Amino acid sequence: MCGIVGYIGTKRAYPILIKGLKRLEYRGYDSAGVAMISDSGDLNVYKAKGKVDNLTEYCSDKDVSGCVGIAHTRWATHGEPSARNAHPHYSQSRNLAIIHNGIIENYADIKTKLQAQGVEFKSDTDTEVLVRLVEYIMEKKNLSLLEAVQVALHQVIGAYAIAIVDKRDPRQIIAARKQSPLVVGIGENEFFLGSDASPIIDYTDKVVYLEDGNIAVIRLGAELRVMSILGEEQELKVKTVDINLGQIEKGGYEHFMLKEIFEQPECLKNCMRGRINVEGDHVTLSAMIDYRQQLLNAKRIIIVACGTSWHAGLIGKQLFESLCRIPVEVEYASEFRYRDPVIYPDDVVIAISQSGETADTLAAIELARKAGAFVFGVCNAIGASIPRQTQTGVYIHVGPEIGVASTKAFTGQVTVLSMLALCLANERRTIPGEQYKEMVAELTRIPEKMEEALKTNEQIERLAPIFTYAKNCLYLGRGYNYPLALEGALKLKEISYIHAEGYPAAEMKHGPIALIDSEMPVFVIATRDRLYEKVISNIQEVRARGGRVTALVTEGDTQICKFADHVITLPDTLECFQPLIASIPLQLLAYHIAVCKGKDVDRPRNLAKSVTVE
Ligand code: F6R
Repeated sequence: MCGIVGYIGTKRAYPILIKGLKRLEYRGYDSAGVAMISDSGDLNVYKAKGKVDNLTEYCSDKDVSGCVGIAHTRWATHGEPSARNAHPHYSQSRNLAIIHNGIIENYADIKTKLQAQGVEFKSDTDTEVLVRLVEYIMEKKNLSLLEAVQVALHQVIGAYAIAIVDKRDPRQIIAARKQSPLVVGIGENEFFLGSDASPIIDYTDKVVYLEDGNIAVIRLGAELRVMSILGEEQELKVKTVDINLGQIEKGGYEHFMLKEIFEQPECLKNCMRGRINVEGDHVTLSAMIDYRQQLLNAKRIIIVACGTSWHAGLIGKQLFESLCRIPVEVEYASEFRYRDPVIYPDDVVIAISQSGETADTLAAIELARKAGAFVFGVCNAIGASIPRQTQTGVYIHVGPEIGVASTKAFTGQVTVLSMLALCLANERRTIPGEQYKEMVAELTRIPEKMEEALKTNEQIERLAPIFTYAKNCLYLGRGYNYPLALEGALKLKEISYIHAEGYPAAEMKHGPIALIDSEMPVFVIATRDRLYEKVISNIQEVRARGGRVTALVTEGDTQICKFADHVITLPDTLECFQPLIASIPLQLLAYHIAVCKGKDVDRPRNLAKSVTVE
């Protein structure tokens, strides 16, 4: 939620900041803004509602000189999206400017107290309260910027990643974080700031991921200093990032989402590389070696996640229960954290998150750790908060996901959960050795089968215009395909703004069937598995009420085409891996429908890629 960029060095700050903002636009695009200390020593703040391009247009006739600056792309929480509420925010004297990602929960109290002291406000945001508090403390107590930030951060409750500049000291940026991510890049006589490493990697691969409660003093001509809010110096943990630019650029595709859909076969190979042996019949996960006992002795698994990651968790539940015979609960992290759940020390909690920064999932992890459970992370973003706050885990290694609608992260998560379930099942002897080997071998064939599934792209592109009229759609599936029905519906909702619901196909007769008429497209995942015959009956129930059925079927299917209006054919695989294949046409369907409707596929309204607020 909200993207932060900063630069201090000897180069022009403006182009670096703008390029960085574009990389971070996935985090929010309600407004964008920059603050730069100009060559003549002015602190210029420029902001515009909407995307970064609106900001660059606005800045086209402005003074954008200067070698120090901070910039922000916003996902609104407090205050409507507008230029007035856009960051950066000035302090009252206009000597300071701040950018912020997070929420200051007690901002209203602080604001009232400051107003009583004569402090004025120009915006409705919680962020402006923070910069005005910092200035008030500086003046009242005669403190330096650093000292005032330390005092102010003691008074605020909430989550933040912030950066502040002071025009009277153009060689310094002060940054701090609590529960919102912040990375400092270290170059040759220059420093960078980013909500993640993507705005930094063009210039340096040396980064420091700030920890919760850390303040960074970024001073030109000096070493980076990191300290706690209390002022205790922290050891500098410099890491080398390993993301290449090709991974975050569109590579010839019209949208990141389409690129990421097409990348999936390669991504899954990367996900399995080094984990499945060359013979393709055995999985080794280092987490299983290091924490074997904790994982093998699990009496119960609790999966916590949000959105698409939660759907992957539902597939994980079926895998762990059927292959490992371990009971599994799948929880929305946002509910779990506030529900006073029963957690035992011999529970294994698996937290799934693409970004590794989802605030609700982080809070659920904290709760589980306090209860003494062993917490295992399944994450994509390297070095993010979740892998740092879990005891161990597995990266999905699908590369940066930029499209706001998650695609390759979903299949990466399901692949990691499949590998983990297979490892555990083999060690616990809950499946025969031969079955284990066959299943591992089939998993290695999935990328090839995904390539086949991607060939449905043209057919789906042709079908898509038929569905643009729809106001509602239904997605049906059973068994492993039920979570996929939920995921297919979520993809359509997110990017085409068509209301869609996923249902277990047999539940339809308990209510939703009343919705069926000839206006209602129904997408049925009807691949060949144990429940195939039953799904055929469900399709007939829909047809009998005039519903329009598009079915995803397994190659060689001759039955379903008799009842379905459209049939999309997919390669066969084991039932538990079917979602990996069938997710592809569902992602493509959502994509092409949204494109036909002229929607901004990579930046759907009201959404952000990384939800760092609760
Ligand atoms: C949907 C989507 C979201 C995320 C959810 C959790 O396409 O992207 O539903 O899955 O916000 O995000 P992560 O996985 O980063 O914790």
